[in-house]
Amino acid sequence: MSASVVSERVPKELEIATAAAAIAQEAGRLIRGYFERGVATEYKGDVDVVTEADRASEKLITERLGAVFPGHGVYGEEGARQQMDSEYRWYVDPVDGTTNFAHGFPVFCVSLGLEHRPSGLAAGEDGELVAAVIYDPMRDELFAAEKGKGAWLNGGRVHVSSTRQLAEALLATGFPSRKRHASPNIHFYQEFTLRSHGVRRAGSAALDLAYTACGRLDGFWEFYLNPWDTAAGALLVVEAGGAITRFDGTPFRLDSGEVLASNGLIHAEVAALFAAMFAGRGLHPIPTPAEFAAQRAARPG
Ligand code: IPD
Ligand code: CA
Ligand code: CA
Repeated sequence: MSASVVSERVPKELEIATAAAAIAQEAGRLIRGYFERGVATEYKGDVDVVTEADRASEKLITERLGAVFPGHGVYGEEGARQQMDSEYRWYVDPVDGTTNFAHGFPVFCVSLGLEHRPSGLAAGEDGELVAAVIYDPMRDELFAAEKGKGAWLNGGRVHVSSTRQLAEALLATGFPSRKRHASPNIHFYQEFTLRSHGVRRAGSAALDLAYTACGRLDGFWEFYLNPWDTAAGALLVVEAGGAITRFDGTPFRLDSGEVLASNGLIHAEVAALFAAMFAGRGLHPIPTPAEFAAQRAARPG
C-alpha cells in the first residue's frame, strides 16, 4: 500500500481505512461539485437513475484504489470489475443515494467496503469484511471501520444506541428503484411505523447503516440491496457493537439482498415481528382511504 494517500480523519491504526478514506473524500468532493453545479439524469430502468457524477466518481475511485492497493480487486455499481480473483475485493458505491442526488436532495454518500477472500473460497461464498469507509460530502462526515478496531466518525469512536425496545426505537428503511411491485416492504413500513418512534426513509442505505452504527438510528432494514450498498455499512454496524442478519436472524451475506441491522438489543424483537408478518400475523388494521373517507363523510359538521 502506498503511504502517500492518507486521511487525517481516521486513527492511524486503521491503516487501510485511512488510505481508503482519502479516496472517498476525494470522490465526495467530486460528486459534491457536480451536485452544486447540477447534473443531467439518465435512466438505467424505468425509475432507476444514473448521472455523470456516478460514473466519474467510480472512475476516480477505481483508479485511486488501483494505485494505492495494486493487488486488490474492485467491484463497482457502475460496472467496474477488476481482478475479480484477487484475495481482497473492494465493493464500491460511487454515489449511494443517486435519486436524492439527482433531485437536489442533499442526502447521499460514497461507500467503500473491503472483503478478504482467502484462497479456496468458492465464487458464491462470502469472505470476511475487513475495512469500511462511508463519506457524506454534504455534512463532511467520514465513517470508518476495520475488523477488530472499532467504528469511527470523523476520528471519534462510535457505538450503537442503547435503546432496548422497539416501542422506543427510531428506524430506517428504503425502497428499491427496481422490482418495486415485487416488494412487500410497504407493509413492514406501516407496521414498524405503528410500533416505534418512527421509520425514516432518507434514500441512502449506506448512510442508514452508518447512522445505525453511530446510534442515530436504532435499526434499519431493506429488501433487494446489493453488495456495494451494504459491504461498508455492515462492518461499521458490527464494529460499533450492533447486529446484522437476514430477516429471519440467519447470518447476513453480501448477496443476501435482505438486510436487518440494529443495535443488537432490539434485534430479536424486530426479527420476531418479521417472522410473524411473513406468517400472515402481526399487522394492525388501519382504515383504507375509502373507509376513512366514508367515516369522515359520516361525521357531523
Ligand atoms: C439506493 C439507495 C437507496 C435504497 C436503494 C438503493 P443507489 O442506492 O441506497 O436508499 O433504497 O435500494 O438502490 O442506487 O442510490 O446507489
Ligand atoms: Ca446504492
Ligand atoms: Ca449508487
